[in-house]
Amino acid sequence: MKLVIGIVRPEQANDVLESLYNSEVNGFSVSRVQGHGGELDRVETYRGTTVKMGLSEKVRFEIAVSDAFVDPAIEALCEGGRTGEVGDGKIFVVPLERVVRIRTGETDDSAVTPVGA
Ligand SMILES: Nc1ncnc2c1ncn2[C@@H]1O[C@H](COP(=O)(O)OP(=O)(O)OP(=O)(O)O)[C@@H](O)[C@H]1O
Ligand SMILES: [Mg+2]
Repeated sequence: MKLVIGIVRPEQANDVLESLYNSEVNGFSVSRVQGHGGELDRVETYRGTTVKMGLSEKVRFEIAVSDAFVDPAIEALCEGGRTGEVGDGKIFVVPLERVVRIRTGETDDSAVTPVGA
């Protein structure tokens, strides 16, 4: 199992949701975050030009998946998130040790598979 973390532009979030739905990746958390991706804003001052590190608004998807759904989740984030411009975001894949469905006590792969799937 992996935790796939995708940080995307807020305006692409709905496209990512649609791509995830089409990939049958169910179950994820979404939050608003601020981040920095290496872009530097040039600021004119009376002594010349300086640079300022700004934070930009992003949306963070956290998707816990069984191994078979790692690639579909990554593809959905890329497909929905890409505009081709600098700042489209990043994806991090981290090992996931344990998942528990609270209602049933089911663990791991049976816990990341939605009921009815
Ligand atoms: N190394 C990192 N660690 C944690 N978060 C990051 C990292 N790089 C980028 N992010 C997050 O992703 C957001 C978008 O990053 P961004 O798309 O600018 O990445 P990039 O690697 O600079 O790609 P690009 O060349 O398209 O700008 C950042 O605002 C930040 O929230
Ligand atoms: Mg960047």
